[in-house]
Amino acid sequence: MTCEIIDKLQWRYACKKFDNTKKLSEEKLTVLKQAFNLTATSYGLQPLKMLVISSQKLKKALVPLTHNQRQVADCSQVLVLCTETQISSHYIKEYFDTVVSLRETPRDVLQPFEDFLTNDFSKKDSSQINIWMAKQAYLALGNLLTVCALEDIDACPIEGFEPQKYDSFLNLTEKGLQSVLVLAVGYRADDDMFSTLTKVRRGTEKVIIEL
Ligand SMILES: Cc1cc2nc3c(=O)[nH]c(=O)nc-3n(C[C@H](O)[C@H](O)[C@H](O)COP(=O)(O)O)c2cc1C
Repeated sequence: MTCEIIDKLQWRYACKKFDNTKKLSEEKLTVLKQAFNLTATSYGLQPLKMLVISSQKLKKALVPLTHNQRQVADCSQVLVLCTETQISSHYIKEYFDTVVSLRETPRDVLQPFEDFLTNDFSKKDSSQINIWMAKQAYLALGNLLTVCALEDIDACPIEGFEPQKYDSFLNLTEKGLQSVLVLAVGYRADDDMFSTLTKVRRGTEKVIIEL
């Protein structure tokens, strides 16, 4: 099994050319949605949402907002990883309400932790909170990339896009969201020359330190 995972991670690459005739099945999309939701996040607060864009018209319109990278038009779905625009005490309270209802934990057991988080977040400015939330989005991206590899789905992680233009074009601000990362998913084109290139990595002997 371990070797199988390494083989899959060798197989995956940042897809530069998708076959626009091949689409992900509903089952595969469900796996990606569940994997996104199951991503571990700091404190479990999940300050994230993911847009799943299947509309060809919308995908095509994203190309100029993505430094003209064609992957967003030719892939099967564009996933836009977003963070909340703010973390309010109400947001934190809702998280603890969910813990109470799902785990039946008595509220008074959770109250000190809720008070700690509410106080901690109230002391941070919005840029500190944005940095913390973006880190959670990157965790989700890593999780999705691995799940894509395991599910034989091709993907291209994309930082090369204009977040503010995405936010306005996709009406994210009015949803209380801001775009952080893009992930194009689908299936590689037979003639994507990047699929056969040797992986460039520094090597375990350079990146691992054993003590
Ligand atoms: C956070 C992140 C952002 C990236 N943004 C882009 C991008 O905008 N366009 C692109 O073609 N590749 C992008 N890549 C792909 C990387 O260039 C690629 O993963 C890296 O060169 C390693 O190659 P491999 O993934 O094919 O093994 C991004 C990768 C990551 C992790």
